[in-house]
Amino acid sequence: MEYNVSFPTDTVQYSFSGIKNLLKKAPAESSIIITDSNVATLYQPVIGAYRTIIIPAGEEHKTQQTVNSITEQLLDFKAHKKTTLIGLGGGMVTDITGYVASIYMRGIPFGFVPTTLLAMVDASIGGKNGVNYGLHKNMLGTIRQPSFILFDAELLQTLADTEWSNGFAEIIKYGCIFDAALFAELAKHTVSYYKDNAKPLNELIQRCVNWKNKTVTEDEKESGVRKLLNFGHTAGHAIETLYNLPHGQAVALGMLIACSISEKECGLNPDVKKQLIDVLQRYKLPASLKLHTEQLMDILVMDKKRSNNAIDYIVLNNIGNAFIKPLPFENIKNALNNFSDAGNN
Ligand SMILES: NC(=O)c1ccc[n+]([C@@H]2O[C@H](COP(=O)([O-])OP(=O)(O)OC[C@H]3O[C@@H](n4cnc5c(N)ncnc54)[C@H](O)[C@@H]3O)[C@@H](O)[C@H]2O)c1
Repeated sequence: MEYNVSFPTDTVQYSFSGIKNLLKKAPAESSIIITDSNVATLYQPVIGAYRTIIIPAGEEHKTQQTVNSITEQLLDFKAHKKTTLIGLGGGMVTDITGYVASIYMRGIPFGFVPTTLLAMVDASIGGKNGVNYGLHKNMLGTIRQPSFILFDAELLQTLADTEWSNGFAEIIKYGCIFDAALFAELAKHTVSYYKDNAKPLNELIQRCVNWKNKTVTEDEKESGVRKLLNFGHTAGHAIETLYNLPHGQAVALGMLIACSISEKECGLNPDVKKQLIDVLQRYKLPASLKLHTEQLMDILVMDKKRSNNAIDYIVLNNIGNAFIKPLPFENIKNALNNFSDAGNN
């Protein structure tokens, strides 16, 4: 299945027809693959046809230093305005590829083949791409759409269990903010069910792609509804950096903190957090962590959703119903203290 989605300045082709079509989408003579050291060993036959830039795997390499190294190699390959960059990998690779493609020669075409569940349901979609700077996640970045995204759930067969869980954190997020029926479905199953059943897995990926796609086409530049996708990410990003946790695990904890904040600030029924804890545990995601509030606040005050002394926090009314509430730093700090002191429940 394939469809095109138009943004004001770009058209994205979403294709669910598999990686076998990559050469048709991006001919080898005019394209360069960017991938990481783990993915490169898995897809030797695919990348063998292309000029390839291999970056070290791991979030700690999503940096300007790696961008510089990619740029050197693009210059060696004599890449020009019509060269297409293909990001083949997880969200770390798609983020850095989209960013490099947006700044190299002031912008060259790019497309993605996401190879993790997290990248398929979230990171590859929407055109927000960037790198980390010191303790600050995605501090340098752009919003520019890829020309194509090629989905192939079979690529997930080699994925480690922890990476499946990380992907489910973002899927659970869609349930929390938009889709109570999805949340209820997730509450009945486990990672193994989706891993072993291609049809529900493909339907799940498609459903999340549709949610993300719908949101970013309504609000590409994140002035309104797109902010809801940050549910769990405000505290989540700070936790990810401070405790060196994978993105999905940090988002899981961030969603619980957002529930605590929603209880205090917006009267959310405490049962919602209990339901969320059950679902997170089902997908082997963490539900508690001892927090160091002062250090987290040092990172949080530079959050991209900050204005003056408040952050646009994403809170819940109920499962499937999220909204934006500007919260003073002091309230966030108190919520982090309470979350930590209460043993996170
Ligand atoms: N741009 C966005 O809108 C957006 C949204 C969510 C997350 N993100 C970013 O995505 C990143 C996290 O993405 P991720 O969880 O995919 O991490 P990742 O890209 O680091 O991949 C996780 C691990 O899986 C390995 N891997 C990738 N594909 C594999 C496969 N098919 N088989 C076996 N191993 C494989 C990688 O080498 C890596 O070791 C973070 O940097 C986060 O900030 C971006």
